[in-house]
Amino acid sequence: MADEPLILGIETSCDETGVGIVRGHTLLADALASSVEEHARFGGVVPEVASRAHLEAIVPTMDRALTEAGVTLADIDAIAVTSGPGLAGALLVGVAAAKGYALAAEKPVYGVNHLAAHVAVDTLEHGPLPEPAIALLVSGGHSSLLLVDDLARGVTPLGATIDDAAGEAFDKVARLLGLPFPGGPPIDREARAGDAASIAFPRGLTAAKDLAAHRYDFSFSGLKTAVARWVEARQRAGEPVPVADVAASFQEAVCDVLTSKALAACRAQGIETLVIGGGVAANSRLRALAEQRAEKYGIRVRVPRPKLCTDNGAMVAALGSHLVAAGVAPSRLDLPADSALPLTTVSV
Ligand code: KG4
Ligand code: ZN
Repeated sequence: MADEPLILGIETSCDETGVGIVRGHTLLADALASSVEEHARFGGVVPEVASRAHLEAIVPTMDRALTEAGVTLADIDAIAVTSGPGLAGALLVGVAAAKGYALAAEKPVYGVNHLAAHVAVDTLEHGPLPEPAIALLVSGGHSSLLLVDDLARGVTPLGATIDDAAGEAFDKVARLLGLPFPGGPPIDREARAGDAASIAFPRGLTAAKDLAAHRYDFSFSGLKTAVARWVEARQRAGEPVPVADVAASFQEAVCDVLTSKALAACRAQGIETLVIGGGVAANSRLRALAEQRAEKYGIRVRVPRPKLCTDNGAMVAALGSHLVAAGVAPSRLDLPADSALPLTTVSV
């Protein structure tokens, strides 16, 4: 509808420079420039390289998004930008750009939480999020279960990883299997040809003794070590490593734990909607297993299409749009880039 606010979102927290434009819940543009190839040979994102790449990409990406949406900066009602969490130097580029554009065009600016934006992006695909909902947030830097009773004003953390994030586990296991960075997509691909039941890898924090203190927490570092030991044992024995089977069995262990804990949270709280967001939500097995298990309990799973799961500007615009619709006040023009912004702070 033409009277819904037109929101531009800027994302620069990691290695993707994203500018998205939405009207209400309708996606109009999603421009992205990635520096992932510059980091691949290091096996992880190099902060200084990412910051410089953002600096070079921000203005062209902004121009591309406006062209794609067929609007000008003057048409925009508000600018949203990732304020944190993320890499400090990378965040600074987006925040400084947002302030510059906001000041020049006299627009309000919203500094928003990257993780809440991973939840909000689903509204672009499936419409308003029923509240309360449970959100499973799984990215390269975070793995959390949240109770979302008011996405505009705050979310309640139920649990989180106590060591590695789910995406980090994919990246590390890919590396030891000789697969490229980032590791999620190649493991997802390899796993399709493998047998997920061939190797029994551990399911972290699912034993009865762990559940008492860590019912909704995750742990992936033991799994990563178990995969490393298994691969080393094969190599020592001079036997080939069955990459597809290892990938499938590892992926199954991650998806089993993520879906069982997320659905346990839904059932314990009597909540019928599970929304999954973050880069790992692009995983084909995670999506299928969540659907399959949720169906038994009458729980609806909402996962945006893979391109919206990984970092992008549209997710920031989607959260900005939600904040504007909820009547939340804009941020001050001196809003911070906060690398450690807590999950409970939706906007600054
Ligand atoms: O949300 P995101 O793009 O960036 C962060 O905020 O961290 O997530 C990136 C993470 C990486 O660890 C990447 O390996 C993982 O998401 N990922 C996947 C898949 N696609 C991306 N993990 C599993 N399966 C995938 N298909
Ligand atoms: Zn992310």
